[in-house]
Amino acid sequence: MPNQTSEKDQRALAHLQTAFGQPGSGRLRYAAAMYFNRQGLISDDALEVYRICSADDAEDPATLLSQRGIKLSLLPERPIDPALRLRLLVEEVDRYLGELAGPGVAEVRSGIARHRHGDVKLVPPPANALVGRYLETALSELSVSHPALAAVIAETTPHLKWITYDEYPPEKIGESFLHNHAFAPLIGHGAPIPAKEFDLGLFLISPHILYRDHYHPAPELYAPLTGPHGWRFGPDQPLIIKPAHEPVWNEPLAPHMTKVGPTPFLCIYGWTRDVEEIAHVIPANDWPELEALHLGT
Ligand SMILES: [Fe+2]
Repeated sequence: MPNQTSEKDQRALAHLQTAFGQPGSGRLRYAAAMYFNRQGLISDDALEVYRICSADDAEDPATLLSQRGIKLSLLPERPIDPALRLRLLVEEVDRYLGELAGPGVAEVRSGIARHRHGDVKLVPPPANALVGRYLETALSELSVSHPALAAVIAETTPHLKWITYDEYPPEKIGESFLHNHAFAPLIGHGAPIPAKEFDLGLFLISPHILYRDHYHPAPELYAPLTGPHGWRFGPDQPLIIKPAHEPVWNEPLAPHMTKVGPTPFLCIYGWTRDVEEIAHVIPANDWPELEALHLGT
């Protein structure tokens, strides 16, 4: 394999490494093996192993390769380009959203389709302590049902700028939320894939934290990858417990609040317009009780 691998080669390498257990991953690995076999980089014997293992998405071909004494010596360990990692993450997010039903999902997917091929600009980000503390727990929960999405988030995170935005007035947003959230823009203003009037990213909040009642002009999709968590849609409305993978669509100016459950809150967020308009906190009398509440314990 030449030193400069093409994006096609890199994609095939990434497919060869697709997380075990991901539905369809056995066939994806086999297709990637055929791609390298055509280039003479994977032997016919090795390809046969990938064919056999393609029937079981959870089976690692390395076991059978080793039993048969086959080495993939022509395929060097080559790191996947971070920009391609980010594209693969956006593609996996889009695939995930495609499995969901509900308002707003189509709007966010159409925003992804408009921007996914934009140039990727990544700068080495500083580490974020909150991500170091909670992301792995969130991803281990996600990996049970969505191993490929969990894997690509883990692989891309070292290249993502996770931001704990602590410029909000603490008396409004709450001291605990201020220091216990982090978000990583993927597409949008200042994101690795630039866009106007569309934001897509990942959002992480520590367990048991209250994200107080607020509203904003931007219509917003939350696709929670962990759960259960509490939600309410107005300070006078009841707290509703929703499981992971049940999307929440907030219409423009509609009030909403999130009470994180016992596992870290990890979600995909999408804002489909009016992304420059700021959010406003809505005062409520019961925040102290909600902040002290531990759901599911
Ligand atoms: Fe919001």
